[in-house]
Amino acid sequence: MQLFLDTTDTAVLKDLAATGLVDGVTTNPSLIAKSGRPMLEVIAEICGLVEGPVSAEAVATDAAGMLAEGRKLAAVAPNVVVKVPLTREGLVATGVFAREGIQTNVTLCFSAAQALLAAKAGATYVSPFIGRLDDHGAQGMDLITEIRAIYDNFDFDTEILAASIRSPAHVTSAALAGADCATIPPDVFAALFKHPLTEKGLEQFLSDWAKTGQSIL
Ligand code: E4P
Repeated sequence: MQLFLDTTDTAVLKDLAATGLVDGVTTNPSLIAKSGRPMLEVIAEICGLVEGPVSAEAVATDAAGMLAEGRKLAAVAPNVVVKVPLTREGLVATGVFAREGIQTNVTLCFSAAQALLAAKAGATYVSPFIGRLDDHGAQGMDLITEIRAIYDNFDFDTEILAASIRSPAHVTSAALAGADCATIPPDVFAALFKHPLTEKGLEQFLSDWAKTGQSIL
């Protein structure tokens, strides 16, 4: 399973990328706004920090506008993935991008029917928003399970990118449900490393080791 970081904070990205466990990055217009920086500059910097896919979102709402913006974003670096919303216009643009060899991430997916259309349009990734579905009173993870079954039934190549992740449990549930990737906020990514028994166990081992007076080196 690929793990992406959902951020425009390049200091945080540098820190977590040093673990070798960050396979890519996703951004969205809200995260660009949060960075307070020009979008093309942030995307270029992120693309220099990770070799994997970096999603950059078009903001036009018509297909022609998305195509123009997407082509400009794709020219920033070879690892840019153009993000478009799961709308009729977004899927028209997705089909054109697919024919042009530009990778896409179809975002704001909230139903299996939408995900089916995204795959038929030739999306590289589809992003079901788990946390926002949970907030809405649904079981977000059920959507991953449904999309996995549909994509497997018809051998669609579109990768399922679990998004709107709010906890480590979301990451493991998405993995169990067959998501190909998950995009994770930095605080949740950092929490993936941790377990209280790991910390307790390590403390005990180091305390016992200190009593031996030995040194390995
Ligand atoms: C990913 O591509 C999305 O931008 C992100 O996961 C949305 O997360 P949120 O629902 O926490 O804003």
